[in-house]
Order: sequence, then structure tokens, then C-alpha cells
Amino acid sequence: MIAGSRGRRILVAGVVGLGMLLAPAASLGVDHGGTSFVSGASGAGDAYFPFAGNGGYDVRHYDLDVTYAPPGPAPAPLTGRLDGEATLRLRATQNLDRFNLDLRGMEVDRVMIDGRQAREVAPPPDGETVEGLAYWQVQDDAARQWELTIQPRPRIKAGRTVRLVVRYHGDTTRPEDIEGVLYGWVTTRDGAMVVSEPEGSMTWYPVSDHPTDKATYSFEITVPEGKVAVANGLPARRPTTRQGWTTWYWRAPDLQASYLTTASVGDYEFRRSETPAGLPIIDAVDDGLTPDNLATTNASLALQAEMIDFLDQFGRYPFNSAGAIVDDDSVGYALETQTRPVYSRAASEGTVVHELAHQWFGNAVSPTRWADIWLNEGWATYAEWIWSEEQGGDTAQAQFDAVLEIPADDPFWHTVVADPGPLGLFLDPIYDRGAATLFALRTKIGDDAFLTGVRRWVSRYDDGTARTADFEVLFESVSGQDLDEFFDVWLHTPEKPTTW
Ligand code: TRP
Ligand code: ZN
Repeated sequence: MIAGSRGRRILVAGVVGLGMLLAPAASLGVDHGGTSFVSGASGAGDAYFPFAGNGGYDVRHYDLDVTYAPPGPAPAPLTGRLDGEATLRLRATQNLDRFNLDLRGMEVDRVMIDGRQAREVAPPPDGETVEGLAYWQVQDDAARQWELTIQPRPRIKAGRTVRLVVRYHGDTTRPEDIEGVLYGWVTTRDGAMVVSEPEGSMTWYPVSDHPTDKATYSFEITVPEGKVAVANGLPARRPTTRQGWTTWYWRAPDLQASYLTTASVGDYEFRRSETPAGLPIIDAVDDGLTPDNLATTNASLALQAEMIDFLDQFGRYPFNSAGAIVDDDSVGYALETQTRPVYSRAASEGTVVHELAHQWFGNAVSPTRWADIWLNEGWATYAEWIWSEEQGGDTAQAQFDAVLEIPADDPFWHTVVADPGPLGLFLDPIYDRGAATLFALRTKIGDDAFLTGVRRWVSRYDDGTARTADFEVLFESVSGQDLDEFFDVWLHTPEKPTTW
């Protein structure tokens, strides 16, 4: 089923006007009382991923109940099977005639709103109406447009909260992000590594897949007996086993951006500890790590409590728990999934402090648009620098100097850090020039203003999102300096800074 993106947007824009002109208005956007209703937008308005996230409502909570059968042993194909039931509590922010969720590569079997079952229909052509409570799917790989559209009846008035149940299933594969890098529900021989930045959560549950719509989560993940499923937050109860299948229960009660959701499945061994302040740490370490990787991982994970204490300079640790998932059979990179980052093959000390720093920078305070990704990666890299200095390794100054040694004609300097484009989210300059920007800012405004600024940043935007302009305003205010030129040189100019 393919529907064009252009038509969809025209439809969104046209619904109110048409609905008011034409009678009977039953399915064109006006109810019997004469209130007008519109379609929620098919994207959150992020230029890098136009169809990620959705408009017209806020998701409050996701209750994800998934059953997963991993692939058989080689040479069986590397695909699994996912059967899901997602229950969403969502609140309309406008009068809704229709609204979308993002869902990629999964087939919807059943949709219920407030106990009423919707009928599946083919995607209606532009401007055409559909009778009654209905849903349809569009899966357009070329446009990266993967949408489940729901037409609620009765229509939903702004401010109302509904309970939406979506049942779905699909064969799991190894999805790729816009750059061709594995992400989302990545099927592995021993389970699945679930790492969904920037918009890969839609590969495993129906979601408004953009950081501007944070929600709380609960999980029931059912896997073959012997496999372990690890998600965000804390166990809600002990796992239960019936007829060869074990269900793992997790609860993540802190607001969370969708890309930070995980439900990784594998042959993990649990380790529980806590920080001196009593924060629970739950690590899940694959039993298949090589001896070297296991030694590296053990040494790094043993430092987590100390790292959390060190990062406390940016404000209190923002969530109810911490820990790690270390996967042997993996995608090759780490991700700061909320409370419980996922590591590939081994967790090095630098990577662990990086992913922990993301709990403040990226997770508590998330990017408003993906163009703001340097606010995640610059801070996490800066945290690596100062941790190294604290531990008696390279100083932050030395690491800053090393960045500044990159010759001016190196392509490293040709990225606009505050607007790298969707293919540039994870380029080196986002990390290293981002961190250098923070170090240079600290040198320019002084340690006190810098530390006051960063604490204010975290407390002001905690549980929400912020963008580069917010950052600039806050640091100008806390320092009392005009920093236009500074930010222009460091963040907005694709050249090596010389003076600032
Ligand atoms: N955000 C991850 C980190 O820095 C990295 C990441 C996510 C990434 N997706 C990627 C890196 C794709 C390279 C390519 O911890
Ligand atoms: Zn990072």
C-alpha cells in the first residue's frame, strides 16, 4: 500500500475548509454539533525526518506487550517473529478527525479506541472520505514514510484522553537508519539488540517517534524460556514462565523519548548493585563475551557508581535506576537507552562515561529537532574529557588542543555543527567540535558561569527538549556576555575557528 506524501499533506491542510463547505459533514471534519475537527499532522515538524512523530496529540504512556521468537540457529535465516499489543494513553491537543502513529515493517491486526474496534480499510485517495471508525497503513520505504492512520469515531475533542490498543505482528529483520546503519529492532542470532536513534522505535511498536513527545513506559516481553529480555527502568515483578515461554516485566516511570526505549533480548547474566546514595544499578552482560572483552567490561561497569557521582556536578542523576546491557552479538555501536545503555561486544571506560553523561544530556534534556544533536554528543564527549582528566589521564585542555590540531583544510571543519543534515548526525565534528565548543565556552565565560549555566540548562529543560538557540540564550544570560560571534564561529560556520 503506497500513498504519496504530497497528497497526504494537502489532505491535512484541506480538511477543515472542505468540511465546513460541504454537507453532510459526517466524515469530512465537522461533527453533528458543528465543531470542526482536523487530521493530526503526519510528522512532528522535524525537517530531517519529516514523517517521524505526529501532530494533534501527546502520548502519555505506552504499555508494550510483545512476544518475540528469535531466529533459529544458523543456517536458519536471521529473522525473528514479533507479536505485539501496544496500549497507548494519548491526549488530543486539537480536535482530531484522524491521527497517525509511526509503524515500520509491521502489519496491524486490530485497532481499538476506548473499547471500540476499528475496521481496516485501504488508504483513501486524497480528499476522499471513509465511513466510521477505521484505520489504514502506508509503508513507503523510498519516502521513509511509515504511517498507521486512525480515524476515530466519535472524533476526539481537544484535551480528551483516549486508550488506544494496537495489535500487530511481523517478521523482524535488521532495519537501517537513513545512513544505512543498523538500528531499531535488530534481529541477532541470540535475540535482538534494540537501539533506535533517531527514529527506529517505529520498527517495533506504534509510536509518535520524535523526542518532542515523551511518555512513560511499561513492558511485558515474552521470550523462549532461557532467554532474557531487558528494558528501561526497573523490574515491575519477577519473570513468569508458562509452557516454555518466559515473560519479563519492566517499568520506566520517568518521561522518556522514543529513541531511548529498549527491550533487548539475549543470553544475559544479571548483576545488581547500587550507588552509595541507593540508586539501583542493573547490568545485563551477555554470557558470550570474549575473556578480553569481559575483563574490559567488568572494569568499566565497576566504575559506574563513581562516574554517576562525578557527573552529579551537572545536577542529580535524573532517573530511577541505572545500569548497562552488553551484547555480544551486536550492531557495533553503543546507545544511551534511558537508564540502561546498550554496548556492543564490550563496554570501554570512555564509552561508559559517555553513555552515562547522556542520561543528563540527551535523555533528561532531549533535542527539540535532530539538527540539535550536538547538544547530546558534544556534552557526552566533553564528559569523557573531564572524566579522563579527573582520573589522571589526558586533560580536557590537551584533548581540546588535539582537536585544534586538525588542519583547517580537513573536511572535519566543513560541517555546520548546529545543522549537520540528516546524514551528518553522527559525524566526528558533532562529537569533537561539539565538545571543543563547550570547552572553549568554559574558557571564555569562566568556570563559575559555565557550571551555573549547565546546571540551569539541565534543571530548566529536564523532562523536555531544548534547541541550540535555547542554549545560546541561556549562556548569554548566565555569563552576561554577548556570545553571538562565539556561537557563530563554533556552531554555525563550516570553517575552522581562528578567533572567538
Ligand atoms: N548516539 C550514539 C552514541 O554516541 C551513537 C549512534 C547512534 C551512532 N546511531 C549511530 C553512531 C549511527 C554512528 C552511527 O552513544
Ligand atoms: Zn553519544
